[in-house]
Amino acid sequence: MTRPTGYSVAAYGDMITCAPRMPAYDAALCAAITPGCTVLDIGAGTGIFSLLACKYGAGHVYAIEPDAAIELARQAARDNGCADRISFVKDLSTAFTPERKADVMVSDIRGVMPLFEHHIATVTDARARLLAPGAIQIPRADTIRAAVVESAETARRYLEPWIENPYELDLTSGHRYVVGSWRKVNLKPEALLTEPEVFAVLDYRTVTEPNQRATLRWRAARPGTAHGLILWFDAELADGIGFSNAPGQPELIYGQAFFPLQTPLALAEGDLIEADIAATLSDRQYIWTWNTRITPVGAEAAVASFRQSSFQANLFTPDRLAPRAASYRPPHRDVHAIDCFILKRFDGKTDLQTVASALRAAFPQNFPTHKAALDHVSALSARYAATQGERV
Ligand SMILES: C[S@@+](CC[C@H](N)C(=O)[O-])C[C@H]1O[C@@H](n2cnc3c(N)ncnc32)[C@H](O)[C@@H]1O
Repeated sequence: MTRPTGYSVAAYGDMITCAPRMPAYDAALCAAITPGCTVLDIGAGTGIFSLLACKYGAGHVYAIEPDAAIELARQAARDNGCADRISFVKDLSTAFTPERKADVMVSDIRGVMPLFEHHIATVTDARARLLAPGAIQIPRADTIRAAVVESAETARRYLEPWIENPYELDLTSGHRYVVGSWRKVNLKPEALLTEPEVFAVLDYRTVTEPNQRATLRWRAARPGTAHGLILWFDAELADGIGFSNAPGQPELIYGQAFFPLQTPLALAEGDLIEADIAATLSDRQYIWTWNTRITPVGAEAAVASFRQSSFQANLFTPDRLAPRAASYRPPHRDVHAIDCFILKRFDGKTDLQTVASALRAAFPQNFPTHKAALDHVSALSARYAATQGERV
C-alpha cells in the first residue's frame, strides 16, 4: 500500500495556504462537525484538519499519517490544547482499526489528479471498515474534466531538445519517450480550444473502481493549434462547498495535467477531436493512455491519429527487465550472503553496532573498516524500517 510521500514541511505549509482549497475544507468541516462526534482524518500530514475538527467541537479525532509529519501534528495538538481529543496513528489507514467508527471522514490524498496512487482503495476501505453508517465524507465527489488546448509554450518543452536544439545534433530518438509523459500546468482559459467534457465522476460515497476510462469527443470552438489535452478536477466537499482547478480559476496546489499530442495539429473551427483516455493503476502508479483522432469538419475519416501512453515514457532496457522475469535465475553474488547475514541478526535484541562488528569479522574483505560495515547495516535497517506499516 501507499508509503509515506515524503512531503517537506514547507510543502505541507503550501497545502494550508492554498486557497480556495483550504477555506473550502474549513467550511465543510465547520458544517459537518456536530458536538462530540468522531472524526477520521486520513493523511493528516501536519494535522490541520484534525485541529479544525477539534476547534468545531469534535469529541474524538483519529489523525492517521505514516509520514514523520505526524510528529508536528502531535506538537500542534499540544499547542492548541486539544491533544487529549486526538489519537495519532503513524501508519496507513488501511492498517488501522479504530475503537469507534467515525461520523465524519476528511482527507485529501490526491495528487495533481484524484486518480493518484491508492486513493480509491483507501476511500473504499475506509467506507467498509472505519465509518459509521451515514457518515459524512469530505470530499464527497470529484469530477474530472478534459479539454483540448493550444499552448505552444508547454509543447515547446516536449520539442526541445529532441526535435529542436541549438547544437545541430539529431536527438529525435528521445522524442517518443517524452511525448509519453504528462506534466502539471496552470493554463489560462485562452488556451482552451474546446469546451470541457467529463472524463469521470468519482463519488467517494460509492466508488470502488480505481481504473477509469472514457471516449471523449470535442468540436474545436475556434481555429488554433492543438498541442495536447488537459485534465483537471472540480471538487465537491459538501453542499455548495467546493473548488475547481479549471483554467481561469485561482491556481491551486494541484494544477492541470497536460497530455501532449505526439505532433501538434492545426484545427479549424468545428473539427472533431476524439480521445480514448484510460487511467490504469499498476502497483502504486497510474499508467495513462490517450489515443487521439482528428477529423476535419465535414470529412468522413480522421486525418491524424496518435496512440500515446505514460508507459512509453519509460526507458526499459533488458538489464532492468530481465531480473523481474519468472524464468530469471539470479546468479550468486556476495551481497546476497552479506545481507542474509545481517537480516538474520535483526531480532529486536541486537543493536546495529554489534551487527556491524559481527559483519566485519565475517566479511573482512568487503568491509575494511568498522564504519563501512556500520553504514551498510544502518542502510539496510533504515530500508526495512521505511516499509513498516506497508503490506507487502
Ligand atoms: C496531500 S497530503 C494532505 C495533508 C493535509 N491533510 C492537508 O490536506 O493539508 C496527503 C497525506 O496523506 C498521506 N496518506 C496517503 N495515503 C494514506 C493512507 N492510506 N493513510 C494515511 N495517510 C495517507 C500522505 O503521507 C500525505 O502526508
